[in-house]
Amino acid sequence: MIYDLIVLGAGPAGYIAAERAGNAGLKTLIIEKSEIGGVCLNEGCIPTKTLLYSAKIYDSAKEGEKYGVVAKEISLNHEFAINRKDRIIKSLVGAVKTKLKKNDVNIVSGFGQISGRVNDGYSVIANESTYIGKRLLLATGSIPILPNIPGLKDGLKSGYVLTSKEMLDIKNVPQSLVVIGGGVIGLEMASYFNSAGSRVTVIEMLGDVGGEIDKEISALLLKNHKKKGIDFKLNSKVVNVSDKGVTFEYGGETQEIHAEKILLSVGRKPVTNGIGLENIGVEVINGKIKTDSRGKTNLPEVYAAGDCTGRFMLAHAAYREAEVCVNNMLGKKDIMRYSAIPSVIYTNPEAASVGFTEKTANEAGIDYVTAMLSMRYSGRYTAENEDGDGICKIIADKRSGKILGLHMIGNYSSEIIYGAAIMVEMEMRIKDIREIVFPHPTVSEIIREIAFEI
Ligand code: NAI
Repeated sequence: MIYDLIVLGAGPAGYIAAERAGNAGLKTLIIEKSEIGGVCLNEGCIPTKTLLYSAKIYDSAKEGEKYGVVAKEISLNHEFAINRKDRIIKSLVGAVKTKLKKNDVNIVSGFGQISGRVNDGYSVIANESTYIGKRLLLATGSIPILPNIPGLKDGLKSGYVLTSKEMLDIKNVPQSLVVIGGGVIGLEMASYFNSAGSRVTVIEMLGDVGGEIDKEISALLLKNHKKKGIDFKLNSKVVNVSDKGVTFEYGGETQEIHAEKILLSVGRKPVTNGIGLENIGVEVINGKIKTDSRGKTNLPEVYAAGDCTGRFMLAHAAYREAEVCVNNMLGKKDIMRYSAIPSVIYTNPEAASVGFTEKTANEAGIDYVTAMLSMRYSGRYTAENEDGDGICKIIADKRSGKILGLHMIGNYSSEIIYGAAIMVEMEMRIKDIREIVFPHPTVSEIIREIAFEI
């Protein structure tokens, strides 16, 4: 049989593309070497959020006295949390499989490798069978970056050093944990294992945590996590790993920390090797599959979406990229826009942002204005966060008042940020926000409040 579309990889990009294509009547095959759902569902977004929710309930119970709720002998049962996480993953993976089948998508469990061009299409080998597709969608995702640090490979082999994948399955909470890298994964993992009882140290090469987020939000994330007992070594670069701990450089001097386990979270890189891209000549630049705004690669009818393109390594960006690819396959005009993709750090408190930060606005030479407000201007936030120090910051174009970005830290931010994303996407202006009626009392009202501060 000749498929209309062969999808390589069943993570968020791959499974959404396959569902949409199947639904539109394209005869679709999806090939997955591991579990349907990819990193997001099996070893990333969903498992971390499941564990972080247990941690949040535990932290709230411990702080209950502030709200007149006294609970005794509270504990976080890590084994239970892990089992619950596994149950949730199983149910969600099952739901994705059901949806694929409902949309007549064929699923092959095995490693797919592009083998060449054939008349009007491409051939892919999996489990020693050859499949032919008129179109290809590459959705092979990303893997953790393994930096060239002496001792790291041996540590990974022995199980002393873990990536987030293994860390999410660890049966016992380590007494002490060193996290290499204070980016998104590092912070979320540090947050959970600190609540679960580990003595956590985060070693970060840069002067702040959380990657590309707004600097004031980053400073508050750091403050809140320090208050909870996490130790941070900033401006510190890990230079060696032994079987007892890590050595890092700080201010020209070396220091050592011992730990029961080490988590490596220094970023992820697109998967482009071993999948046969060279057999048909797909263009890869700096380790990323090159695509245009319609998801097209340099080859006819070969598309790519998600982390393997290395553009915006987030599941929700991958969903939309996949839809753009399928729409273009179907001859519908659609392009990917990246200016209003929200991002969230799901720690407690959570932080969320969309659009330009002051740094990126400066780099783009934009003349902007900003306003910042304590989240305590929201009645609901104050009612629910006894010592909450959250903030909300808005960035707008100075001349037009067009909203360029919004950044916030404080619980519910993850659920509010999509509203700000709509404002950025629809190119709304400050005066437009002032005319919107927000439900009261909600934390989201902070956006309306801040619109009167600018
Ligand atoms: P990241 O790029 O966010 O952070 C890595 C950090 O490691 C950086 O701050 C970097 O300065 C530091 N670093 C690098 N080498 C170092 C060394 N030798 N010593 C000390 N520090 C060092 O990468 P991360 O956290 O691994 O996340 C990977 C990807 O997964 C990202 O693209 C992220 O967006 C995505 N992700 C998104 C989540 C979300 O949306 N909530 C959750 C988890 C991951």
